[in-house]
Amino acid sequence: MALLGVECGGLSLRNPILSASGTFGHGLEMQHFAPPRTLGGLVSKTVTLKPRPGNPHPRIAETEAGLLNSIGLENRGIEAYLRDVLPAMAGADCAVVTNIGGEKVEDFAELARILDERSEVDAIEVNLSCPNVQGGKLPFSTDPRVAQSVIASVRATTRKPIFAKLSPNVTDIGEIAKACEAAGADAVTAVNTLLGMSVDWRTGAPGINTVMGGYSGIAIKPVALRCAWQCVRAVKIPVIGCGGIGKASDVLEFLVVGCAAVEVGTSCFSDPSNIARLAGEIEALLDARGIADVRSLIGSLRVPGAPAAACAPTLAGAK
Ligand SMILES: Cc1cc2nc3c(=O)[nH]c(=O)nc-3n(C[C@H](O)[C@H](O)[C@H](O)COP(=O)(O)O)c2cc1C
Repeated sequence: MALLGVECGGLSLRNPILSASGTFGHGLEMQHFAPPRTLGGLVSKTVTLKPRPGNPHPRIAETEAGLLNSIGLENRGIEAYLRDVLPAMAGADCAVVTNIGGEKVEDFAELARILDERSEVDAIEVNLSCPNVQGGKLPFSTDPRVAQSVIASVRATTRKPIFAKLSPNVTDIGEIAKACEAAGADAVTAVNTLLGMSVDWRTGAPGINTVMGGYSGIAIKPVALRCAWQCVRAVKIPVIGCGGIGKASDVLEFLVVGCAAVEVGTSCFSDPSNIARLAGEIEALLDARGIADVRSLIGSLRVPGAPAAACAPTLAGAK
């Protein structure tokens, strides 16, 4: 039976599969569909300092091939998270990652400071796609200097591993990944949703109230793979792939481009127990090909024309 364990940004994961923020509650709500012991880790919905009501409805719309959302980071705030969610996470038999969001750099630092004291939290994922209210509402993820200052402020207030979650809505994602690495991130997550919109031509109504929103699901997999690959080439820290993953073979594709682990999001909506089956399916695929250890696939992308050494990114665990 193939070994599935991976090292990722200071965490030892049972397998390379984590839930993606905002698509799986905070994790334990879904345990009857996906017991934590079947996963490498659970990533929480983005938690902010103060409660947020989120955006007006409709804030989710199906498209031909994927989902549009503009939830607006609805959540009950850090106090409720610490009180009502985290204590139970101590018993989760997998890594616990808290995803944080803020409106200004100091918000992220404060959240990280608070979470640093909580033993239930194994790592902090920083949602850089939040709008920066001091920067014309442009997301923190769009400017390497701003992204760097967010990660540096989080690094200054916590010793826990930091995952910097990047947006694909940029010209050069590798540059942003590098800035986060320089600021002390232990891993980058690539990627959050793509900016998209939908409209009903008969009524002229947009699919979601904010008109533009985040596009996710199977259709974005090639974009997410490309972004992950650009990050793998840009940084030495591990890359966590995310975007359009729903099948065991999708997970393996992200590992081949060099990701140490992956997050599974939108596919959980159509079948919330699918994520729990992925590890077994990966094991079967590897066994069928005589691959003893999933880590041997990481970074095995064969770039046409490139010497083998030049296209073999660092193995997870060797960083
Ligand atoms: C309804 C919904 C809510 C989301 N909420 C968050 C969130 O709170 N924080 C975050 O970092 N990403 C959030 N995301 C982005 C996902 O975590 C993921 O990065 C993205 O959807 C791409 O992966 P997927 O195609 O597997 O869904 C959300 C996505 C969806 C569809």
